[in-house]
Amino acid sequence: MASYDVIIIGSGPGGYVCAIRCAQRGLKTAIVEGRETLGGTCLNVGCIPSKALLHASHMLHEAEHNFAAMGLKGKSPSVDWKQMLTYKEDTIGQNTKGVEFLMKKNKVDWLKGWGSIPAPGQVKVGDEVHEAKSIIVASGSEPSSLPGVEVDEKVVVTSTGALELGKVPKKMVVIGAGVIGLELGSVYSRLGAEVQVIEFLDAITPGMDAEVQRQFQRLLTKQGLSFTMGAAVQSVAATKTKAKVTYKLRKDDSEHTVDADIVLVATGRKPYTDGLGLGALGIEMTKRGQIAVDAHWQTNVPGIYAIGDVIEGPMLAHKAEDEGMAVADTVAGKHGHVNYGVIPGVIYTHPEVANVGHTEQDLKEAGTAYKVGKFSFMGNGRAKANFAGDGFVKILADAETDRILGAHIIGPAAGDLIHEVCVAMEFGASAEDLALTCHAHPTYSEAVREAALACGLGPIHS
Ligand code: NAI
Repeated sequence: MASYDVIIIGSGPGGYVCAIRCAQRGLKTAIVEGRETLGGTCLNVGCIPSKALLHASHMLHEAEHNFAAMGLKGKSPSVDWKQMLTYKEDTIGQNTKGVEFLMKKNKVDWLKGWGSIPAPGQVKVGDEVHEAKSIIVASGSEPSSLPGVEVDEKVVVTSTGALELGKVPKKMVVIGAGVIGLELGSVYSRLGAEVQVIEFLDAITPGMDAEVQRQFQRLLTKQGLSFTMGAAVQSVAATKTKAKVTYKLRKDDSEHTVDADIVLVATGRKPYTDGLGLGALGIEMTKRGQIAVDAHWQTNVPGIYAIGDVIEGPMLAHKAEDEGMAVADTVAGKHGHVNYGVIPGVIYTHPEVANVGHTEQDLKEAGTAYKVGKFSFMGNGRAKANFAGDGFVKILADAETDRILGAHIIGPAAGDLIHEVCVAMEFGASAEDLALTCHAHPTYSEAVREAALACGLGPIHS
């Protein structure tokens, strides 16, 4: 038995970042992980591998669609799927090894195996029980399926199976037009699959700015994805090589079927708490199966904390990381803080989509008077040179004070551009503060400045 200040269960972005911060605070720290490699869902079967496939397939798309116009002639590359998977695996390996290195560098012990909490102050891994003053649960989430749909990870897959298909399918049906469905749907569409997305609601990517939703759906449709909206999937019948998806259209209750080689179920994720022993400890859960925590990420059992996808809030790696740092500060006796009003969201399709803060829908509901500054990438010289003029930046600012309340970007490098707005919001900046900040020319970031200018006297280039 070993004794620690902190034991963290789960080595995803929430857990490993928390471990490093605990070590930096001088706490004796261990991390429990049952997978062969560190990094959790994000590094092993989520964010990182999907970004590798998005990058590779985007390169192909560029070669097929834009190279000739730039005077780059010749045959477009063909897809060597096996090599693409090797590239993806190499990318995973570099990242998971990187986390292992960081654990060693920070003298964090890796307790290999699946952990449980037999009693407050104790973590069991395999046959060994370790002691800890603070225990932090960072066990993440898992895909949630639908009633009537059995996932085999071969023909009917979640994001995990979709990252290692035997070959590029001819026809893929994606259930759910959320982040996972659209990112992975884009990958396979670019690689040559016919991709049909079936979505329950009437708009894609629930919760996003409505104008962005419409433009995003238009652009994806132009790229070849097809959308069946307002459709509830009832069941999926699968053989070893094919599947039949049955759905009902909400508008008239009519039933339809569609055949597919692969069905990707992307209808959300749920907290993963199996085997932790939380029930026996009397740890309170929310109605949605999340671990209930207070403002300091502590459960109702003193000394047991939880962060990331197992608690409420957006299931995002960076939200978990922020909570990981903040809870580490808290257990070290400092003041950990997360500003939940400034957590960006990014969809890594092409173009990228990013948002932070309020949407117009939110502000209308809250009765807040706001103004809108919008600028199209068509007016951005760099974007035009790079065939990236599709999309816009929209900044929402308080009608009276000019304080920035939110930003919504669809366009090139949106996932990077959003962060200058995040920093501005952290500092309580006005749209004018952003508008009067010098932005280098020619960069995509000028579109952000122009949107900020549009909240005042008006943009320059439109
Ligand atoms: P999601 O919650 O984003 O979207 C699920 C979609 O499925 C919704 O639009 C919903 O209306 C639809 N749906 C549900 N039941 C349905 C049915 N019976 N028939 C048709 N449509 C149905 O979930 P997703 O995409 O699976 O992602 C899970 C989590 O992972 C999210 O919280 C997401 O933020 C996170 N994630 C984030 C990424 C990023 O930040 N780039 C990448 C991948 C995942």
